[in-house]
Amino acid sequence: MELLYNSGFGNEFATEALPGALPVGQNSPQKTPYNLYVEQLNGSAFTAPRSLNKRSWLYRIRPSVVHKPFEMLKSTLFKSTPFDNMPTSPNQLRWSPHPIPSEQTDFIDGIITMAGCGDSSSHSGVAVHIYAINSSMKGRYFYNSDGEMLIIPQMGRLLFRTELGNMMVDSGEICVIPRGIKFAVDSIDGHARGYICENYGSPFRIPDLGPIGANGLANPRDFQTPIAAYEQLDGEFYLLNKFMGNMWQAELRHSPLDIVAWHGNYAPYKYNLAHFNCINTVTFDHPDPSIYTVLTSPTDTPGKANADFVIFPPRWMVAEHTFRPPWFHRNFMNEYMGLINGAYDAKDGGFIPGGSSLHNCMSGHGPDAATYEKAVNAQLEPHYLLNGLAFMVETCFVNRPTEFAMQTGELQKDYFECWQGLKPLFNPNQK
Ligand SMILES: [Fe+2]
Repeated sequence: MELLYNSGFGNEFATEALPGALPVGQNSPQKTPYNLYVEQLNGSAFTAPRSLNKRSWLYRIRPSVVHKPFEMLKSTLFKSTPFDNMPTSPNQLRWSPHPIPSEQTDFIDGIITMAGCGDSSSHSGVAVHIYAINSSMKGRYFYNSDGEMLIIPQMGRLLFRTELGNMMVDSGEICVIPRGIKFAVDSIDGHARGYICENYGSPFRIPDLGPIGANGLANPRDFQTPIAAYEQLDGEFYLLNKFMGNMWQAELRHSPLDIVAWHGNYAPYKYNLAHFNCINTVTFDHPDPSIYTVLTSPTDTPGKANADFVIFPPRWMVAEHTFRPPWFHRNFMNEYMGLINGAYDAKDGGFIPGGSSLHNCMSGHGPDAATYEKAVNAQLEPHYLLNGLAFMVETCFVNRPTEFAMQTGELQKDYFECWQGLKPLFNPNQK
């Protein structure tokens, strides 16, 4: 399959899989080329300001309304709000990676919710899930009414076959499937694992740059959106929908990936994290981790994010007379972290690729004793921090871990031990 992309973040795209399939000069003509049905997909209120307005016009073989009634499926580990089935503890939490399952598990069955916050029905908060899979989705398709999905592969390539076209996403890349867009996932390497940030709030966008200027961080041109591609398939299929936290399923007699042409700005996209242009200190100290924000989902309060997606990529460390690892910290915001590859510079082991950590509102966290000891005694030369790629989902709402997250054997009950070696070094007689 040849994969082609449109470039740019949030652009108005126009793409057709058959020549002339897009009507010219109007959205909804009485008769369309190739006798396609016309459907508008709105990702924002009709009346959202133009800069925030999201919608696409779809030209498809059948409209989305053609399906049998949905029936609710039994509960799985893929959860939505309310996340109140366990008391939320103020403890620092860390998990080892979840293993690839031995039974056949596709992308939807392989999603396990670790933590979440807010309320999907009122479009606030996020959930963080992990996935571990060993097979492609066969004969079934999915869409999420509760939120958009930011997918962060940790290992194994995934081919996203979406209504608006196809995207191959590898470890080191991310993709976003906006709320409501139907898709299926093929596991290209036979196994895959990663993370998902399900965003109930305002759609992710690239942050404003302020004094940084017109360029830097994630540049718009590096985002890729698929071109139109369609399946013309009849048969026995299922359409799954996560709606108000429950999984629903409807029978279909055709593939729902039947859009022949589309135009608009509401579409999936992918981004290679290696294209992130890091901005950081060239004197002393280091800026707050918000300097590494790739995507942000703002709230109505200026500067307070429903979710920031932040990465810690390989980069030069040059700060003079500075404690270079992340400092000890207590935060108003709530930090869920994952590791895509390598190691993280605040920890000497324990936080491994595919694992997670959660430090909620005002819970102390920071470098472990071994890292602290090394950092205060280090010779400060410029050096290239090559050791890994970590990410953080930071949200203004307290993340509530799920029952699974608190009961799994992957929860590291001895996590607190990594700080117990931090003994007082204070001597009032020695400045
Ligand atoms: Fe922090």
